[in-house]
Amino acid sequence: MTKPRKRTAILISGRGSNMMKLVEAARTPGYPAEIVAVISNRPEAEGLAWAAARGLPAIAIDHKAYATRAAFEAKLHTALMDHGTELICSAGFMRMLTGGFVDRWRNRQLNIHPSLLPSFPGLDTHQRALDEGVKIHGCTVHFVRLEMDTGPIVAQAAVPVLAGDTAATLGQRVLAAEHHLYPHALALVASGLAQVSDENVLISDGFNQEQALFSPSLRAAVT
Ligand code: GAR
Repeated sequence: MTKPRKRTAILISGRGSNMMKLVEAARTPGYPAEIVAVISNRPEAEGLAWAAARGLPAIAIDHKAYATRAAFEAKLHTALMDHGTELICSAGFMRMLTGGFVDRWRNRQLNIHPSLLPSFPGLDTHQRALDEGVKIHGCTVHFVRLEMDTGPIVAQAAVPVLAGDTAATLGQRVLAAEHHLYPHALALVASGLAQVSDENVLISDGFNQEQALFSPSLRAAVT
């Protein structure tokens, strides 16, 4: 008998390109999660129209219509429960959540962040990576905790920083990695292969690779 798929809602605030990749992945046979709703705190978010056009429940909950964060989050929670949500994926959801919400969804809410956490939490991650001169950058999927961009790390993808990169070119390289990483990370969590233990994520055996990304590449100094 096949295992029931995890009912997953996606929170967005804008373009929604990661949301699109999650929706596409969830439509492949055998994927362990199904997308039951796409919810945005910004009614004009481009991703909402995309989701609606694909027959998904696309729900706008305008945070500006609520006097307090708690009131907004109560509405959000109700919408999630109405759709039988078991897992949340924040995907470019640019709204801070309070402890009440975060605790309710503890170990059931994922976020994607465009840096190799714990480096560069917050905004402008690509420019800050360039300013620091790091040679490897990337993205992280993690469980959500109260402090922004913290929480047990499920998966990361690394990309090289190349000579001449701008925040835009580096950001495109990272975004391409995000589009592979998030469906992979959600599958690990939804299938139960990734689990939180002592504020670390344990991944069941057989999924670790021993290759390293060298940047600059090892060939560079060899004549
Ligand atoms: C993505 O790069 C995501 O990692 C980032 O916003 C972008 C959303 O793009 N999230 C954060 O910075 C959260 N701290 P998308 O709407 O096309 O998925």
